[in-house]
Amino acid sequence: MPDLLGDTITDAVISTLRDTEDARLAELLPALVRHVHAFVREVGLTQQEWARAVDFLTRTGQLCTPARQEFILLSDVLGVTMLVDALGNERPAAATQNSVMGPYFRDDRPRRPDGADISEGVPGSPLFFEGLVLDHRGAPVAGAGVDVWHSDADGHYDIELPDRTDPAMRALFRTDEAGRFTFRSIRPSSYPIPGDGTVGELMRSTGRPLMRPAHVHLLIEAPGFQRVTTMLFPSDDPYLDVDPVFGVKESLIAAYESHEPGTGPYRAHSEGPYTVLRHTFVLEPAPEA
Ligand SMILES: [Fe+2]
Repeated sequence: MPDLLGDTITDAVISTLRDTEDARLAELLPALVRHVHAFVREVGLTQQEWARAVDFLTRTGQLCTPARQEFILLSDVLGVTMLVDALGNERPAAATQNSVMGPYFRDDRPRRPDGADISEGVPGSPLFFEGLVLDHRGAPVAGAGVDVWHSDADGHYDIELPDRTDPAMRALFRTDEAGRFTFRSIRPSSYPIPGDGTVGELMRSTGRPLMRPAHVHLLIEAPGFQRVTTMLFPSDDPYLDVDPVFGVKESLIAAYESHEPGTGPYRAHSEGPYTVLRHTFVLEPAPEA
């Protein structure tokens, strides 16, 4: 048997995969081997560099717990998360586009009636949200489930706040007959992605900022329509162009209207300055089953 040299080992590895039963796996694995081998050849990877990469990935895995997923964060900052989403959710420009889901969604969020205050006493500048959910023809989508969640004025989610166990700044709503849902909360702030792990090392070594622009997360589901996982960013946020997870899309930049006390549509409901955010979401029909 001839020795496997640099130019023959790729074919040799791929030939060991020929009995893979699952058709999709039989497509994925040879392609993965080809691309990894091509990368090693292209950069002339040294043994020290290979060992350093193994150490980096090992530590990335060791950071993962039920409350923290460093591998997903790594996928996010390398643009893989948004690339996979783009390939799987191509939509017409008029439809609401997806963005990253992020790590802060939680299943035990409360179901709240229209107009509810979901801040649960967390301090911050009031935010009044008015949402409208339409289908691709412009007709209202009644009964759609709308999850919202966001950070506080310091960029922290409820699960990061000391002494708080109950959900806050998150809720599940249902659209009414006109496709509308409204709620009151507090204005979210920009915040950094976790910088104390391997992803932080990567970001520092490449001079990339950790800060994400402020946003409200939304997840909209209705029978017969594609699920929308998205977020809305304030148009005046200084971090729109440097989002480390590549979640910003032009159509997701929204006007967070600032109002002085005693002016505007909610003057009777707020003693201080407040923000109004209105947005129309357009759902695409689900592909035929
Ligand atoms: Fe977020």
